[in-house]
Amino acid sequence: MLVISFASSKGGVGKSTTCVSLAGCYVKAGARVHLIDLDSNLTASRWLKDETARPPTLTVSAPDPQILTEHLQETARHYAPDVTLIDVAGSYERALTIAIARANLTIIPCATTEADIFEAARIAGHIQTMYAAFDRVPLYRVLATRVAALVTHAQAHAFREIARLKLPLFETVIPHRVAYEEVGLLGPPHLADARRPSTAKAITDLERLRSEIDTLLAAPEATLTADESAA
Ligand SMILES: Nc1ncnc2c1ncn2[C@@H]1O[C@H](COP(=O)(O)OP(=O)(O)O)[C@@H](O)[C@H]1O
Ligand SMILES: [Mg+2]
Repeated sequence: MLVISFASSKGGVGKSTTCVSLAGCYVKAGARVHLIDLDSNLTASRWLKDETARPPTLTVSAPDPQILTEHLQETARHYAPDVTLIDVAGSYERALTIAIARANLTIIPCATTEADIFEAARIAGHIQTMYAAFDRVPLYRVLATRVAALVTHAQAHAFREIARLKLPLFETVIPHRVAYEEVGLLGPPHLADARRPSTAKAITDLERLRSEIDTLLAAPEATLTADESAA
């Protein structure tokens, strides 16, 4: 089971949007996907509430973050997902630490503003410290989200900052698009009407992201989950 955690200590960076969108992308690719919503606002689970609007291969749960470890085992038994995506609430709780420790890959969504990059760097530092304590090498990437079509000075500066801080960045970016704004209303782009230009473009972004994730995880140095390395 592949586990991908979405971590950010800041709200509004597009964490839930990207998490739900990527869930749709994996489902469309034929995977059994389970989304664990650890945010007490229950954004992602609210967006995916309508069971008739989503395929049976996309399931959602919103457990008590305190029991994440047990819940992950339960999820594996009950749903046997190929991919589990965890939308982690924005604070330094135990759940964030567990979600990161359990993940094959942690995605740090980050809008291209100075404040968001500062927060992304903090999360990256947290991941490194945690993994160093267990002599493991983490796999994480910053994902630039809500990227404007016209490159502003602020945005160019943001990308320079990411480089200066040596934050590992996905080549794929998630642009600012109507299709993402509508995820709460219409579901993930892959499950929405692909005839709409914005939706079609979002599908292309997400396919690119998925392929980049596949390449990352196929690399020999790709991190094992705590369970796998214990095995
Ligand atoms: N790529 C995007 N393009 C346009 N709007 C976006 C994008 N990503 C997120 N949004 C919008 O930004 C707001 C915050 O997104 P959300 O995913 O809830 O953030 P978070 O989970 O990090 O708090 C939502 O209103 C969402 O519709
Ligand atoms: Mg959210």
